[in-house]
Amino acid sequence: MCGIVAIVGQTAVAPLIVDALKRLEYRGYDSAGVATIERGKLARRRAEGKLVNLEKRLNAEPLDGNIGIGHTRWATHGVPNETNAHPHFSNDVAVVHNGIIENFAELRTELTADGYEFTSQTDTEVVAHLVSRELKRGADPVAAAHAALKRLEGAFALAIMFRGDENLIVGARNGPPLAVGHGEGEMFLGSDAIALAPFTNSITYLEDGDWAVVRRDSFNIFDIEGNSVERKRQQSLSTSFMVDKGNRRHFMEKEIHEQPEVISHTLANYVDFTAGTSKPLDLPFDFAKIDRLALSACGTAYLSGLIGKYWFERIARLPVDIDIASEFRYREMPISKNSAALFISQSGETADTLASLRYCRKAGVPIGAIVNVRESTIARESDVVLPTLAGPEIGVASTKAFTCQLSVLASLAVRAGVARGTISTETERVLVRALSEAPRYANQVLKLDEQIEKVARELSHYRHVLYLGRDTNFPLAMEGALKLKEISYIHAEGYAAGELKHGPIALIDENMPVIVIAPHDRIFEKTVSNMQEVAARGGKIILITDRKGAEQASVNTMETIVLPDVPEIITPIVYALPIQMLAYFTAVFMGTDVDQPRNLAKSVTVE
Ligand code: M6R
Repeated sequence: MCGIVAIVGQTAVAPLIVDALKRLEYRGYDSAGVATIERGKLARRRAEGKLVNLEKRLNAEPLDGNIGIGHTRWATHGVPNETNAHPHFSNDVAVVHNGIIENFAELRTELTADGYEFTSQTDTEVVAHLVSRELKRGADPVAAAHAALKRLEGAFALAIMFRGDENLIVGARNGPPLAVGHGEGEMFLGSDAIALAPFTNSITYLEDGDWAVVRRDSFNIFDIEGNSVERKRQQSLSTSFMVDKGNRRHFMEKEIHEQPEVISHTLANYVDFTAGTSKPLDLPFDFAKIDRLALSACGTAYLSGLIGKYWFERIARLPVDIDIASEFRYREMPISKNSAALFISQSGETADTLASLRYCRKAGVPIGAIVNVRESTIARESDVVLPTLAGPEIGVASTKAFTCQLSVLASLAVRAGVARGTISTETERVLVRALSEAPRYANQVLKLDEQIEKVARELSHYRHVLYLGRDTNFPLAMEGALKLKEISYIHAEGYAAGELKHGPIALIDENMPVIVIAPHDRIFEKTVSNMQEVAARGGKIILITDRKGAEQASVNTMETIVLPDVPEIITPIVYALPIQMLAYFTAVFMGTDVDQPRNLAKSVTVE
């Protein structure tokens, strides 16, 4: 969740570190800090809140020094203030950390008894004191770092700097990602390759349990026992191009509008629009031979998988088990050898999703990853990468990654249907044709912005909102609720429309807008009955439907948003857009921080 950068450089590093941290701000923005060795002493600047506050601080009080470490924080232990901001110091040692030191309480007690004073509430400070104590006991910096690492339990990425050695940074990884960047007479550490892209494309990823001794002209990687290990050096595809908002107010708005294009790119990777066929894939399993598919993911990615389940089961008659990754990893589910597992993640770094992947790896099933960041840990640990071609998604609220995940899942379901003989060549052609129309319909929906903005203005006056849908529109209702609560802070729930009468109907009154996602499909009438139940209790309905649905709804609505008539398979892709736009405009009216909503981070690398 936090972002780490370290540079053993040739010139003043603080401005370079801040530049790299900008690319990592998606990982956390509660506070930020930089430390260097300035005229032989450890020096640091830290600031609560976003990176811009740190920049102001550095403009007022610049930092000199050719070696430094930097950090952008997503708080786990201790409130987000300057005292808890990294880097943390202990005598001659400076540390930045991403993750959680699980045995920090025990270590803190031990170090306090040894006379070490804690100035922050963080778990990180124990690392600085542990290293410092080893130095005091006579170890050299590298041995001190190694001894301290051996005491740590939990998930962490670390960069450690030492006053007295201006040509040394020790990095360590156990869980959250950390990469070494190779320069000419300078070396770097970073949480991802994007952060290091302005400096170098030559990258070595540390593996779990690795720690690295990084100097200007050399680097060595060791395992926790201190044995030297070899890790592949590779050319990163990341570009130093800093993604900007173009002429949009927010990244989220820009990303919503990019969807017609990125859905089209993604689909083109999996289906042949001209031939009307799904493309053959080089998979580590055969769809025709497996009897189950396990899907696992978190948040929005999980909800895309839930929609995927409907497609795989309906089109390919392939049973799907889908789990929230944080549940999957601990519920000790028996995994059939005759199955395959797919993990869905925008960032490819989500800790729970990665842990689920490793659980399946141990169970010996073939593994595929639907990821947006191709160089991510989840991508690297999978047997096959099925990329979403959404491009960098900066807004914390996932939008274009979601519809691209849906595009991959729908295409895969068609491919599975072909392989399993559950659909004919003609049906495949019809489905691929339908998929090819998704970008065009998505574009048409974007033009409904004025009406959706008007509805959002109304929505922003309420404190609770209910979303209802059936079939694939049920997970979409949950996605609508997730989007709204995450960026507008309005409480929202998504329910299967048929479930309303089993409890949630008790909530319905004139203060509860109910957003119903109901294209005119084979179960439309059932949803209309649920709307009647809402209307009879004074609930205010916002109906998202198509022309036929609007004609036949026979219920008074507060507003009806009429979308184009679209083929069933692409409904969730096209209907995702008004859901995202509603959340976006509502958040704008509420005046919240749309791209960096409170308490959240784009990449969740802790449990
Ligand atoms: O990077 P991932 O797709 O693995 O992230 C999973 C969730 O953290 C993510 O989808 C989150 O729910 C989004 N902020 C939702 O908009």
